[in-house]
Amino acid sequence: MHHFQYRENRLFAEDVDLTALAEQIGTPFYVYSEATLRRHMRVFRQAFEHTDALIAYAVKANPNLAVLKILAREGAGADVVSGGELQRALEASISPEKIVFSGVAKTFDEINAAIDVGIYQFNVESEPELEAIAKIARARQTTAPIALRINPDVSAGGHEKISTGRTEDKFGVPWSMARSLYGKARALEGVAIKGVDVHIGSQIAELAPFESAFKKIATLIADLRADGCPIERLDLGGGLGIPYGEGVTPPHPKDYAEMITRVTKPLDVQLIFEPGRMIAGNAGVLVTRVVYVKESIDRKFLIVDAGMNDLMRPALYDAWHDIWPVEKTERDITEYDVVGPVCESSDRFAKARSLPELLPSELVSIMSTGAYGAAQTSQYNSRPLIPEILVHHDQHAVIRQRPSFQKMIESEVIPTWLV
Ligand code: LLP
Repeated sequence: MHHFQYRENRLFAEDVDLTALAEQIGTPFYVYSEATLRRHMRVFRQAFEHTDALIAYAVKANPNLAVLKILAREGAGADVVSGGELQRALEASISPEKIVFSGVAKTFDEINAAIDVGIYQFNVESEPELEAIAKIARARQTTAPIALRINPDVSAGGHEKISTGRTEDKFGVPWSMARSLYGKARALEGVAIKGVDVHIGSQIAELAPFESAFKKIATLIADLRADGCPIERLDLGGGLGIPYGEGVTPPHPKDYAEMITRVTKPLDVQLIFEPGRMIAGNAGVLVTRVVYVKESIDRKFLIVDAGMNDLMRPALYDAWHDIWPVEKTERDITEYDVVGPVCESSDRFAKARSLPELLPSELVSIMSTGAYGAAQTSQYNSRPLIPEILVHHDQHAVIRQRPSFQKMIESEVIPTWLV
């Protein structure tokens, strides 16, 4: 459920008319609904309300400070994967006791920064990383709380490029090496084993892969406890898919929670979750204006002013996003390739998409782009990052500004010998 709905044929974000907003802000831009963000967080929280679960929002999905602040107010912690994300989480007043640090390559500086603030847990992905964290903690005469991220060798994920739980993927400690690495961690000074971590992929639309991975992890926990490892937490990662409008209906968080409770209850552990897409995905849209309609030999191109640099998902993962006209019309349905201005053939948001006929200067909204949309933008083709707008009832605020061209290039320096 989200709060982008038509009112008398005009698309609104909550109580804000997107046509009027586009006039004011200029296109393209992202717009997020605060009510939708809060709702998704609450649905997730309620699914686990009888537990002491920590919901550590995966900052990478949408790291905007205002978004983090809203989720923090809803009780979210943060799953961070870089020093930058850690900084953002702290800026948004997320307590370090609710921050977990994931990622395969935590650097010396990042480990130190996380120890400085006292995060809840490092999710460790390899033996050398375990040794590095232990060494840094020892040098500081402290102990770092850790879980090992175990790769359960289960294939899942909406696309080859977002599957992480197979042996061939770079993530986590291979299943067959898990027990021995825990043995090593137990003997290592500077780290305290707190739990087990698993994350098998993203945009997972069925419960089955989650269930088989989590059952495998449950057996591992029994083995680890038998070995004398104090496992008190179980981090189940993120990955729950969302409906993108192409006919896939992922499980409701309630069903996901029911399965998890069944599998994990006997373990008596604190659960940790790292949802990203499920919270932010359907809480945002990308509003873009038609620049030209180009008739070609066998197709029509709807050329819009947003490009693959603003939204990479279709180019990178062949992702489907619904495209809605911002003003509904009764015009004939036409098939378009919806493309952007970037000089790449992959700069295409949709192929042979049926839409009511659209004219230059009209607006369309690319739906479900609140997660991994703005987060993955670049300035390719020297296109400044596009603004992000937050809507709250009938109010809106610019939560990331559109930089001027001057601002975009100001950090670049011409060396003295070229001046
Ligand atoms: N935890 C870890 C360790 C992760 O690597 C991720 C996502 C998450 C949690 C959050 O997963 P979610 O709940 O959002 O599925 N850019 C891609 C998705 C990449 C996901 C990366 N890791 C996309 O646009 O589909």
